[in-house]
Amino acid sequence: MTGPNRRAARGHLFTLDPSREYPVLDRAEGVYVWDAEGRRYLDAIAGIGVATIGYGRREVVDAMAEQAARLPYAVGNIFSNAPAIRLAERIGTLTPGDLDWVHFTSGGSEAVEVALKLARQYHVIRGAPERQVIISRWTSYHGATLGTLSVGGSKLRRRVYEPLLLDTPHIPPSYCYRCPWGLTYPSCGITCATELDAAIRAAGPERVAAFIAEPVVASVGGAIWPVDEYWPMIREICDRHGVLLIADEVVTGFGRTGRDFAVDHWGVVPDLLVMGKGMSGGYAPLGAVAIRAPIRAAFEEQGAAFEHIFTFGGNPVSAAAGLAVVDVWERERLTEHVAELGPGFAAALEPLRRFPFVGDVRTLGFMAGIEFVEDRETRRPFPPEARVAAKAREAGLQAGIVTYPGTGMAEGPGGRPAGDIISLYPPLTFQPSHIVEMGARLADAFARLDRELDL
Ligand SMILES: Cc1ncc(COP(=O)(O)O)c(C=O)c1O
Repeated sequence: MTGPNRRAARGHLFTLDPSREYPVLDRAEGVYVWDAEGRRYLDAIAGIGVATIGYGRREVVDAMAEQAARLPYAVGNIFSNAPAIRLAERIGTLTPGDLDWVHFTSGGSEAVEVALKLARQYHVIRGAPERQVIISRWTSYHGATLGTLSVGGSKLRRRVYEPLLLDTPHIPPSYCYRCPWGLTYPSCGITCATELDAAIRAAGPERVAAFIAEPVVASVGGAIWPVDEYWPMIREICDRHGVLLIADEVVTGFGRTGRDFAVDHWGVVPDLLVMGKGMSGGYAPLGAVAIRAPIRAAFEEQGAAFEHIFTFGGNPVSAAAGLAVVDVWERERLTEHVAELGPGFAAALEPLRRFPFVGDVRTLGFMAGIEFVEDRETRRPFPPEARVAAKAREAGLQAGIVTYPGTGMAEGPGGRPAGDIISLYPPLTFQPSHIVEMGARLADAFARLDRELDL
């Protein structure tokens, strides 16, 4: 597209990066998306981890249209509504343990905000108002609002807003490829988990309200899964100190890792489980928090109302979309499908290690992170100004595949945040032929990147 056409296509939309030309996405079907110029891309990130059941599902569209015609809206502090009630019941049966109560939002950041506020109010109504500290982790992402950025651990995403953020403690994640203690599993004593105990003691155990973490780090780190002992140890440490455990499953929930929820890998039941993205398959904005029975009971016993409302929380059309998506997801046994095809998905990425800039390839289910390094021996990251992850994304688009760039999981010269990955979160409906196509297109993209980096 040339000069005036290009400007016309952009219009007055305030896109994130004014220096970049954004391809205009026009339509989608199955696991593919097309831009306005007719170029087809294999969507290896399912939008951004949302389009779990693939695009073009007529039954979801029909359910939404029907609900919009019948009742498009109901305000949550005066009314309830049938799709929200039904979806809460479905989710209550899917989530582990007694995570039986569900509160809806319009997305992941809002749901994390709700979880943080619920944790705080729970302690207040139980007579422990001094519990006000939330502990979280570096190399993590929990959302874009100031509250969620405060507990988030991406130094790059926080940088501009740092003066506005809450001052909360962060601990390192379980990340063996870049262990901050320089230790090796399993002789390390799982220091990444015992560090939570140290952080709680440093803050004063009677002052800590909650600990929040992604069971498997998504966008900021690229499928960083923890060692097996990690989550059970974290659960035990939280219990010992009366600290609520919040699992952020916005990316990992609804089958992404080959289990319904990622905490199921380790048999851990968090006190609050946050979800979003795949729950509505990208058809409508939807997030939620699943809440354990004793927390709900405390509100009931104390006659306390949750001090909170979002205008679009529990929206009937979003809930109808969620119900239809969960129907498809269950009927097509997509969690089991991911568990079955996960090894093939991982195997298709292994050949990419032949490129000199590929430092690590990690996967869990249909979730992958490919970490780029300038030096494989020392795991030295590229300098941030080389913008390697962004270049990989562009190379991917040229090769007809959508990938998601991430930065900041490593330390560069002078302690500056550095490190590059691309993440993959394909639709859970990916078939073996799509996996083969993904491997070939990524090889093409990496060959282009290789020529550009010229190591
Ligand atoms: C783990 C995690 N939590 C929360 C969020 C925020 O969700 P949203 O962008 O829907 O507000 C995201 C978004 O990518 C996420 O990856």
